[in-house]
Amino acid sequence: MCGIIGCVGRGKDTLGTLVHGLEKLEYRGYDSAGVALGGAELSVCRSSGKIGAFKKVLTERDIAGPLGIGHTRWSTHGPPTDENAHPHLDCAGEVAVVHNGIIENYRSLRDELVAAGHTFTSDTDTEVIPHLIEDERDSATDPETAFRSAIERIEGSYAIVAVFAGTELLLGARNDSPLVIGLDEEAIFLASDVPAFRDFTDRVIYLEDGEIARVDGGLEVTTGDGTRVEKTVSRVEWDPEETGKSGYDHFMLKEIHEQPRALRQCLSGRVDELGGTVDLGDIGELRPSAVQFVACGTSYHAAYYAALLFESAGIPAQAYLASEYATAVPPIGEALVVGITQSGETADTLSALREADRRGARTLAVTNTVGSTADRETDHTMYIRSGPEIGVAATKTFAGQLVAVNLLSLATGEGETRRREIVPALRDLPGDVQSVLDDSTAEEIAATYHDAGAYFFIGRGIQYPVALEGALKLKEISYKHAEGFAAGELKHGPLALVQEDTPVFALVTGDDEAAKKTVGNVKEVEARNAPVVAVTDKKSDVAMYADHVLEIPDTHPRSGAVLANVQLQLVAYHIANRLDRSIDKPRNLAKSVTVE
Ligand code: F6R
Repeated sequence: MCGIIGCVGRGKDTLGTLVHGLEKLEYRGYDSAGVALGGAELSVCRSSGKIGAFKKVLTERDIAGPLGIGHTRWSTHGPPTDENAHPHLDCAGEVAVVHNGIIENYRSLRDELVAAGHTFTSDTDTEVIPHLIEDERDSATDPETAFRSAIERIEGSYAIVAVFAGTELLLGARNDSPLVIGLDEEAIFLASDVPAFRDFTDRVIYLEDGEIARVDGGLEVTTGDGTRVEKTVSRVEWDPEETGKSGYDHFMLKEIHEQPRALRQCLSGRVDELGGTVDLGDIGELRPSAVQFVACGTSYHAAYYAALLFESAGIPAQAYLASEYATAVPPIGEALVVGITQSGETADTLSALREADRRGARTLAVTNTVGSTADRETDHTMYIRSGPEIGVAATKTFAGQLVAVNLLSLATGEGETRRREIVPALRDLPGDVQSVLDDSTAEEIAATYHDAGAYFFIGRGIQYPVALEGALKLKEISYKHAEGFAAGELKHGPLALVQEDTPVFALVTGDDEAAKKTVGNVKEVEARNAPVVAVTDKKSDVAMYADHVLEIPDTHPRSGAVLANVQLQLVAYHIANRLDRSIDKPRNLAKSVTVE
């Protein structure tokens, strides 16, 4: 996820302060970096790659200034190249801008600005901002008025900081993306989060959505209509070392809690709630006659879920473990092969996608990583936009994958009736995930069952891949034996293992035939005196046969799968935490598996 730092008042140390801030933001994940220093003219330096590489580029430049802005970019629009790195400039080079978030209407703004004579030099959505400011400066009396008018034309999520040539002025604005102000005796900082300036000050002001910060000799915060706002100065108490986790004990827990935002980002600009339509650009034009999904681990569970969506729309679809794809029947006709991979670098998945390409299929990557090998090598890419995931266990990226494949099947396979049914459920999903996070009793379940020898997870239909994922998550971070089963399969063998000390997590949503059958399977477990934890929307009577209930909001079963998974993520996390496991870096595992 991108990081922002800006400062006024550090004099000769301005550049060093910005680079220090960028280093402190590295934990967010990024693929390029840059700075712009103010003065009579703006000096900009930026490069793809890590801060180390950026510092080398800086040594070849002689730039200085009394104020400046810096940015670490995590690509969303356009690959991680020097040209796409922030800050971005207007045509005249008089305003430089750094931005976090997504400008939803950037395509139409860019067309408008190009028609008005502006020249763009990057693929980013961000670059429309300096050009918009430039456009507004023709009629505005001062930079701030132009900045405000430009902000009014932007739709989407943003934290923006701008610096103007010939001034000692920084302007910042936010909507749905954090921007904080740091105050020390001489300097004022604007940053995406506190670690960027925590070594200089512990006094912070948190900007709210719609507010604009003007930083020159002093600080003024106003609303969009110019009304002055009196802000409270808070003291940050935590140790700078902890800040990467934003106060959470582990990245995994932080990332579980980031899911509402990650899902909003995934949906942003892609669904029209009123019209019930889904817009995926060129991908929406695809009309596959059949779909093969290839993926590994958690991403395979998303692939399994995805195949069910396409099958339910009458399009033959199959999920393959990428490492087994060589044995698959070659795709025929207008078949599409979709690689689901958060990293975009998993060797097994890349190898399957290359095999699909050799067999003449069109390929699509569903990934979190812009510029990854999967992104570059496939015919099409759909980004899940979850932000960087640092914990080895995939959490928010799995949720992002589930939402992304919903959009994919709605845009390419399912009809209008389906879209009208699903789009509202997807729209409500970030809020529903938040209520699961707020109300979950998973920690109590973990306290009761953390010392069990084995755990089973059962689900039917759309809940089956969630059962598989619940078991995988638990085993990888707690090192406990856990298995997921199709609920109906339990009696065909695994039931022999079910005993009084084997907790069985049963996923039951809705009250249709499938739910009723799963309740029947729960009764079989109950009859063996095994403890049952039902993860349910309580539409069925499963709670009657369960020892505990982890409740999820009543929604469409497709969203219910995402919500049930959040409960299981929390169970896995709290069990592993009680066992004092190395949650973010489980033994023997790696975040990106680049060997076959
Ligand atoms: C489990 C996990 C792994 C990955 C798998 C594929 O929490 O993260 O099972 O899902 O290694 O990785 P990607 O999605 O990067 O292809």
